[in-house]
Amino acid sequence: MKKEWWHNKVAYQIWPKSFQDSNGDGIGDIPGIISRLDDLRALGVDILWLSPVYCSPLADEGYDISDYYAVDPHFGTLEDLDRLIAEAKQRNMYLLMDLVVNHCSDEHYWFRQACADPEGPYGQFFYIEKHKPGDPMPCNWRGYFGGPVWDLLPGHEDYVYLHVFHKKQPDLNWENPQLRREVYKMINWWLDRGIAGFRIDAIINIKKVLPFRSYPADRPDGLCSVQRMLEEATGVLEFLDEMAEETFRKHDAFAIAELFDNKPEELPRFIGDKGCFSCIFDFAPEMLSKSPDGWMGAKEVTPDQWKHAVFTSQRLAKDTGFMANIIENHDEPRGVSRYIPEGERSETAKKMLGGLSFMLRGLPFLYQGQEIGMENTVFPTIDQADDCNTHGEYAAMLEAGLTPEEALAIVSRMSRDNARTPVQWTGEKNAGFTTGTPWYPINPNYRHINLEEQRQRPDSLWSFYRDLIALRRNEQWQETIVYGATEPWHEDESRLMAYYRRGPHTLLVLGNWQQEPREVQLPSVPQSILLSNLPDTQLEGASLHLRGYEFLILTLN
Ligand code: GLC
Ligand code: CA
Repeated sequence: MKKEWWHNKVAYQIWPKSFQDSNGDGIGDIPGIISRLDDLRALGVDILWLSPVYCSPLADEGYDISDYYAVDPHFGTLEDLDRLIAEAKQRNMYLLMDLVVNHCSDEHYWFRQACADPEGPYGQFFYIEKHKPGDPMPCNWRGYFGGPVWDLLPGHEDYVYLHVFHKKQPDLNWENPQLRREVYKMINWWLDRGIAGFRIDAIINIKKVLPFRSYPADRPDGLCSVQRMLEEATGVLEFLDEMAEETFRKHDAFAIAELFDNKPEELPRFIGDKGCFSCIFDFAPEMLSKSPDGWMGAKEVTPDQWKHAVFTSQRLAKDTGFMANIIENHDEPRGVSRYIPEGERSETAKKMLGGLSFMLRGLPFLYQGQEIGMENTVFPTIDQADDCNTHGEYAAMLEAGLTPEEALAIVSRMSRDNARTPVQWTGEKNAGFTTGTPWYPINPNYRHINLEEQRQRPDSLWSFYRDLIALRRNEQWQETIVYGATEPWHEDESRLMAYYRRGPHTLLVLGNWQQEPREVQLPSVPQSILLSNLPDTQLEGASLHLRGYEFLILTLN
């Protein structure tokens, strides 16, 4: 595996609407991000991914783009964005934009033109089919946000169009070379502007099984998950190789994909020396709670499942390339709420979870608020939910016979809104996020969970993440931490997660994922403790007494 400029970096996702408001309208914006760059620099992160800030009706919070070449006025202007790119560069930081090209907004010029003339050239930019009123739809796929993927083409009774996400997100037809050329032109336009690359949205969906056909229904609604179709789809890599060749490779850009449902044996074609992307996220732990029944069937994830999932991914990628290691993002509930049981969610436990994820081989990728341990929020009623997916899942649960209380309890646990509450900067009014009314209620726990308090405290979670990042940068350890092999240790021991990182040095990373202490016999007498989440570790020779949720990085040579 060739070494790349981004391998030793630490990445951080910004979800702009909730990051920092600068003008009191209650919505986070680009000038707000610029005002926080020094805070991010102090933490030590250097690759920044911005969730979409393009013009958008915000039906899916910016993932429905109506103009790829312009910034939505909610977030600022193109000049603001240019300034962000420049200010980031000055601080040796790299900016990634979000690339959302499986679909656009139904308010995009292309789709409007397609509605005006479905048989014209822009009709070919989408999947539009003739349809007689009363006839079945072209196929029975269920979209990601629930319901059928087909809707009547606005203004027409005899055409339908495909959308695998929200109905305001019509799918783009990648089979059309003209569409692909438009996409590559847009990508290059942004790369020429000075961004370092892209995070690539929902990309596996660009290849459909054609002609459209139905699959056996997997729920009483008579529909079948669109993922069933993806199992059969072949040929996505041809599109992706072409895109890489026409865009990313020419710019030595960093491209990280949101990739689900890919075939493991194809990994070397996705990442590594011959990959069409630089990197993909490791979603194995998030996938553990997925169920064919949606959130209704979402399972709790145990520490052992998390560990095995992560180790499986580490084995899979080891000779090929890097995956990005996360505990959460804007599509998931907060990692600390999900993976640490209620009542045990101390800062110590949060450090352990963060440390275990961060020290894996790959690219550590933090999500805004993770560095201060932000938690799931509260949902007094379903009206509080903003996210379209949450409303879709809620409706499905009611339809399946759950009571509103039961459905709301599941929403509270699973909703994407949990990760989308404004960042808690201070303990003051509105957590320092805005001087106006925040677009979404601040998590009430901001008075004790906020950056200002944690910056001052050497044993805070924020300080711990800063130390982890500094360790990755430390010349003595960098080679081992960035490139060393991951080798699980005592993998079958329940609620212990431990692994070596073997490079020029040998490190042993340990986390006692429970409140009860445990005794551990180390393979040799450690030379030193590089980092820990509790003071006064009890180490005698090779005997180690691990307290509840204790986390350690030991050097063995
Ligand atoms: C990705 C995004 C998610 C969005 C979806 C449709 O999964 O991360 O937020 O809803 O794609 O664009
Ligand atoms: Ca604003």
